[in-house]
Amino acid sequence: MPRFTPEFLEELKSRLRPSDVIGRYVKLKKRGNTWWGLSPFNNEKTPSFTVSDQRGTYHCFSSQNHGDVIKFLTDTQGLSFHEAVERLAAEAGMDLPKGDPGEEARAQKRKGLYEACGAAAHFYSAILRRAEGRAGADYLRARGVTAEQIEAFALGYAPDSRTALKDYLINKGYREETLVEAGLLIKPDDGGPAFDRFRGRVMFPIRGAKDEIIAFGGRALDPNARAKYLNSPETPVFHKGDVLYNYGSARRAADEDKAPLIVCEGYMDVIALWGAGVRRAVAPLGTALGERQLVLLWRICDEPVLCFDGDKAGLSAAFRSIDRALPMLRPGKSLSFAFLPGGQDPDDLIRAGGAGAFKAVLDGALPLADVLWRRETENKRLDTPERRAALRSDLRSLVKAIADKDVRNAYGAELARRLDEAFAPPARAFRADRADRAGPPNPFAGRRARRAGGFGQPAWASPPRPSPALKRQPAVTAWRREATLVLGLVNHPALAERQESALLSLSLESPDLQALLDEALALISADPGLDSPGLKRHLQTSKAAGTLERVLSDDTLKRQRFLRPEAEFEEIERGWTDALRHHLAATDASREIADSASQAFILGDDVWKAAAAARNELMGSGDDRENDAGEGDAPSRLLEECLETLRKNVESRKRR
Ligand code: UTP
Ligand code: MN
Repeated sequence: MPRFTPEFLEELKSRLRPSDVIGRYVKLKKRGNTWWGLSPFNNEKTPSFTVSDQRGTYHCFSSQNHGDVIKFLTDTQGLSFHEAVERLAAEAGMDLPKGDPGEEARAQKRKGLYEACGAAAHFYSAILRRAEGRAGADYLRARGVTAEQIEAFALGYAPDSRTALKDYLINKGYREETLVEAGLLIKPDDGGPAFDRFRGRVMFPIRGAKDEIIAFGGRALDPNARAKYLNSPETPVFHKGDVLYNYGSARRAADEDKAPLIVCEGYMDVIALWGAGVRRAVAPLGTALGERQLVLLWRICDEPVLCFDGDKAGLSAAFRSIDRALPMLRPGKSLSFAFLPGGQDPDDLIRAGGAGAFKAVLDGALPLADVLWRRETENKRLDTPERRAALRSDLRSLVKAIADKDVRNAYGAELARRLDEAFAPPARAFRADRADRAGPPNPFAGRRARRAGGFGQPAWASPPRPSPALKRQPAVTAWRREATLVLGLVNHPALAERQESALLSLSLESPDLQALLDEALALISADPGLDSPGLKRHLQTSKAAGTLERVLSDDTLKRQRFLRPEAEFEEIERGWTDALRHHLAATDASREIADSASQAFILGDDVWKAAAAARNELMGSGDDRENDAGEGDAPSRLLEECLETLRKNVESRKRR
């Protein structure tokens, strides 16, 4: 494949109007110089996706995805970079450049492999229709596969012969070397003649990104065959982990049906679903779903449905895909899980109960968070504080595995809510009869849930709007803001249980403080009765000892009343939750400023510089701890001015 020169790509882009190209996939409306539409990356009701013909770029405010027309095609249409350029070049009437000779040769070779695979598929499918293919045809008929399905999936039969395919293709002029490289023939190490890889098998052609045939799966008819299914080996055009069976055609069906992709285990499942009218199913090729396959799924679908056998093996396979997917979750991108009645695959289910039975299974699909919760809690005894503490710490490490900050926070909140629900004392009646008494507050759910905005969101999940908060809060450095939270926990370990929901999703920018926090939480989980002196002793011998030392010797922190060891618990808790709210507001505000900044940047405005300055100001910096001067002063004027300018600018832009 030739590499494109920057000149070629520039010329290509200059010949195309982004709003024309993108407008074919996203409905766009012009406002001022900018085109607006609904984001192709997220489900949304109000447009946050923009295209600028002047700049030749698009920008999506809801997903932060942005780039040029080529990136648009790779990110929304599942094309490779090369394919996107090819498609655009055809549209712009440009010839593709001839690249360096090595690359040219490789492209030539790949072309040869595609052709060989295509010719082999042709051979297998012709055999299936002839007397030599009788065994295969009988087998497919017995499994209820119709002529229409055979046609649609280009199914075939490899005769039980060592040279049938070889003879046919050599006769057609293919070189043996090519056929070996395509995985169609096996060349023995001992120098003997090459022979057909697939023998006595029903053949399933596997297609690549352009629907060209790149490999095969073959199912043995002989029950004693060494492998029930045999796949092509890795070749220059076939990388198992990059491919999903039926991807291209399922993508088109999912588009048409406006329904998610379905992932099942095998070829026959995909084909049976197709026969039952569900044409948006894909399958990995004999392995568990890998990372690159998840990327393929998410390219065209927000929440693919993974189907698993409802038995033990199926459940543990589902659990494994959770671990694979967690780090890769992005806003809006998730998975759901459909479990089939024990011991059945979709093929069995459809043959037994028809399309309706499968639809019922799909309707019962569970979101990832549900399955995760079940895995962590089901069949586990959670009847002692130690066991519950272990659950908490397991959940914490799972949440930490999520790379995306927003998704991580959302998961923290969700799991915390479930913990609250699961372990709260029998709620309402208990709370109601003590509500008017002056006793200590209910340690769980109570106040938090009541103050929450909806759906049992803990109150801290909806911090105050940044502007009023900023006006009232002293300009504390980011480091000290985070240190306050950690010191609160170190001085009052009882906060760990009372504020577990908050702690579950708390993430700190300072790696040192995060390490200290993790260590403290781990120690408290292991020994829920640990008091502050005991906790400090343990921490002093841990890797986080240095950070602890710095936190404990910080004078400004010492002046905060609620952090003193002798403070009353109610004061402590109030102080700590205030600090937390401040922390969340500050990080939230900073994200908001960053968003506005990127908007201003895209729209070609100098105001982004002001926003960037505001952000830096707001976040403080970690190394001015020594400098106590000005601490406690109201936020700097600069920050407020920056924010004000920014707000005005964005407002006036919206009005235009
Ligand atoms: P299953 O063994 O669950 O088979 O393999 P199945 O699809 O129900 O097959 P039938 O119904 O008996 O024909 C599921 C998938 O695992 C891969 C294949 O991709 C198959 O579709 N597989 C299975 C292999 O790669 N090799 C094997 O030996 C078995
Ligand atoms: Mn099966």
